[in-house]
Amino acid sequence: MSDPQHVLSARFQAALGAAFGEPDADPVIRPSQFADFQANVALPLAKKLGRKPRDLAAEIVERLDVADMCEKVEISGPGFINVTLRDEWIAGQAQIMHGDERLSVEPTAAPQTTVVEYSSPNVAKEMHVGHLRTTIVGDAVARVLEFLGHNVVRDNHLGDWGTPYGMLIEHLLDVGEDSPEALLLETDPNAFYQAARAKFDGDETFAERARRRVVSLQAGDPETMRHWERLVDLSKVYLNTIYRRLGVTLTDDDIRGESFYNDMLAETADELAASGVATISDGALCAFPPGFTGRDGDPLPMIIRKSDGGYNYSSSDLATIRYRVDKLTVDRMIYVVGSQQALHFQMLFAVARMAGWLPDGVRAEHAQIGNVLGSDGKIFRTRSGKSIKLTELLDEAVERAGAAFDDVPHDEPFDEVARREVVEAVGIGAVKYADLSVARDSEYVFDFDRMISFRGNTGPYLQYATARIRSIFRKGGVAPEDAIGPISVEHTAERALALHLLGFGAALATAAEAAEPHRLCAYLFDLASAYTTFYENCPVLKAPDEDTRTSRLALCALTLRTLSKGLDLLGVITPERM
Ligand code: ARG
Repeated sequence: MSDPQHVLSARFQAALGAAFGEPDADPVIRPSQFADFQANVALPLAKKLGRKPRDLAAEIVERLDVADMCEKVEISGPGFINVTLRDEWIAGQAQIMHGDERLSVEPTAAPQTTVVEYSSPNVAKEMHVGHLRTTIVGDAVARVLEFLGHNVVRDNHLGDWGTPYGMLIEHLLDVGEDSPEALLLETDPNAFYQAARAKFDGDETFAERARRRVVSLQAGDPETMRHWERLVDLSKVYLNTIYRRLGVTLTDDDIRGESFYNDMLAETADELAASGVATISDGALCAFPPGFTGRDGDPLPMIIRKSDGGYNYSSSDLATIRYRVDKLTVDRMIYVVGSQQALHFQMLFAVARMAGWLPDGVRAEHAQIGNVLGSDGKIFRTRSGKSIKLTELLDEAVERAGAAFDDVPHDEPFDEVARREVVEAVGIGAVKYADLSVARDSEYVFDFDRMISFRGNTGPYLQYATARIRSIFRKGGVAPEDAIGPISVEHTAERALALHLLGFGAALATAAEAAEPHRLCAYLFDLASAYTTFYENCPVLKAPDEDTRTSRLALCALTLRTLSKGLDLLGVITPERM
């Protein structure tokens, strides 16, 4: 463990235990303006113990065993404890981190089975930018948790069940299961959907057939199920094209769509009725979780079974929770879904807790995803008001990335094949990083120019930063793997860079705990900035002496590894050359 905040926490806790028998008190270690870190624990503890914070601070410092790592420990203000780390300690920890395959990020001592539910688009429909964002954010959350040693279950809760399937199946049969029209599902699902919809709205005999088909689908009629499967399979081709292009880790094995829970719905509803958690209201079976009221102040129902006997989105989400808790024995469920569904999830978790299906020890979180807006401030659409075709959006990103790429200086020329590969990585990386770097629950305006810029907190900037480090190694004729140090820190910019490097594990832990990849983005961006300051102030290849050169090359290599690993955990590719 190299992260100074963690190490200091442990040392302070030992002192707190020795001084006051409070080894579990949070020492409240924070970065400080006046030193490297400050411990604020004396203030809350003073309240608890009814004593003066400055006195407590003095007693803590007296018991604090940090001579090996701290240069200075000072009490300031009402009782803050400011600590300044020793340069040698920072250098030594950076050296340990560099020698460790996992960059000193130890796998968690308490692995949790965690369902990360993300993407979850609907069959026979275009994925929209909202789905794109849940896909990208969810994938990063899954990668980070997995790296930290958790047992991650990726779960793509595909919308693959419900009344539209009658119409879609009939249309599929009309055009022929292998016809070019059917294959539209693989490339342009909206076109297929709209053709089916037009017939449904304009042709009463078709509509009648579609309704009958829904009945056979719900009854599990084998032939109907076969057609339904064909429909889903064609849609999977479409989804996989997008996932592969995005470098998203979802596969067909991760799909557990709404249909998967179909057989469990009746039992779920019956149990809710039997336990009294749900009651009949206006013919429908409803649960009324306490604290949820409508505009008129009346209790808000969660409809479990409609008055016609049909089930819905909520029924299947309840069955899903039961399945995950009982069969997957989850510790944590993270639903990476649009913020419009916030109320649905609040009520869902409340009802599941009432029913006893969501025990206290299991965390259920709605990781809300904010809307992606167009420049007009409204939900992002094409000029003609249609929803954006995702493949076209990605094509445009890559095309624009090409123009931006040709604008920045390159050490060596690129042949067409190499250029195309890099530009694809830059365009896709830009789109992904734009989704990741904003707090996931906030809205943001989709802006190609901003996300593809090589300046600022963008994917291309960070990719370029790694490529620039590699180019130093090429120029120096050294392989990054061979730059093993020893690391020493003398210049303030070296010290600041090394200290920031040591915070990698803490940044990952925070991102994982909150399911917030933007925290990792912020860390990496700050790291790249610390590196730039270092590079501007500390010549590497032309360092004044051999030891300094060796140390600086090692710092470059460690920065490269940390940036690359961080970007990899965000699902952003780092080209070797740019
Ligand atoms: N398919 C849904 C949609 O496109 C999202 C599903 C979210 N997950 C859930 N368990 N309800 O809006």
